[in-house]
Amino acid sequence: MANQARETRVFSGIQPSGGLTLGNYLGALKRFVALQDSGTESIYCIVDLHAITVWQEPSELRLATRQAAAGFIAAGIDPDRSILFNQSQVHSHAELAWLFNCVARMGWLGRMTQFKDKAGKNRENASVGLFAYPALMAADILVYHATHVPVGEDQKQHLELTREIAGKFNHDYGVDFFPIIEPVIEGAATRIMSLRDGKVKMSKSDRSDMSRINLTDDADAIAKKIRRARTDAQPLPGTLDGLDGRPEARNLINIYAALDEREPQGVAAEFAGRLFSEFKPRLADLAVAKLEPVTSEMNRLMEDQAEIDRILGDGAGKAAELAEPILADAYDIAGMIRSRR
Ligand code: AMP
Ligand code: TRP
Repeated sequence: MANQARETRVFSGIQPSGGLTLGNYLGALKRFVALQDSGTESIYCIVDLHAITVWQEPSELRLATRQAAAGFIAAGIDPDRSILFNQSQVHSHAELAWLFNCVARMGWLGRMTQFKDKAGKNRENASVGLFAYPALMAADILVYHATHVPVGEDQKQHLELTREIAGKFNHDYGVDFFPIIEPVIEGAATRIMSLRDGKVKMSKSDRSDMSRINLTDDADAIAKKIRRARTDAQPLPGTLDGLDGRPEARNLINIYAALDEREPQGVAAEFAGRLFSEFKPRLADLAVAKLEPVTSEMNRLMEDQAEIDRILGDGAGKAAELAEPILADAYDIAGMIRSRR
């Protein structure tokens, strides 16, 4: 089966480790919604098995999983049109990950920058799961024979590894079974940076809460964080070239463009020559106007957790139906006897 002949199928995942950020919203959720609304078959997963590669308090993991589900739905994912579920309810992910642990090479995984960043200096003490994580991520995608994966820039290396794993599996077993996926990394928001340092990405795990906008922040918190965001003393330039070497200014322009669904060039041109003291209140107003409806819908959904769990369970049922026959074929290809009735 040639890759071109495959139906387009989108898969993506978000970790339930802490709350969702503006980076997740602009870099991932908003784009997931656009793909869903374009009529593409889409599968979205809250990857709880990935989250526990670093310690998660069980009660907090449960809360973060439900909050992520509420975030997906509040952002516009419709569980009747897309499949939305949490990873651990579909056992095929972990099983295919085992096969892939035996395909991926130590050297490949050792090169992953996310592992190096997260393990830090004390690598001996990192979990085995943190090291093996990209094989599970490849399994998440390939167990559905997904073809397209929308993510932020930080996941690019993991998607290249997914292609390598699929290629080696196909080659070693002499099959054309797993598709060679296409990363979908596009738009102004593929890398939203910290509000405190324009050179590091906005992240749920940053120690400073002032570095990020959380999807649970209220209007006052959003405005305050933008007002205090680090900037330089120059007025804004009229062109993107003028933002070279000014990562904080570039980031705020990008955030404005992504929130307003415009090109960053247009935003730069509009604010040419203005000071941050003028630009920041405009950005704060825009952020509040765009995020407030999402936040209030999330809060409303969180009042009925049984309903969230029901949606995740239904989604998992639909996902399992797609994944199980593909896992069975993969086991068969690898020479596993499949005789249980
Ligand atoms: P994570 O929160 O690490 O599970 O990321 C979930 C999704 O959000 C992935 O597609 C990430 O690439 C994307 N993402 C996370 N942080 C950012 C950011 N600061 N800018 C853009 N995309 C992001
Ligand atoms: N590793 C991704 C992250 O940290 C989350 C993820 C897990 C994912 N499995 C995936 C993203 C499969 C896309 C496809 O952001």
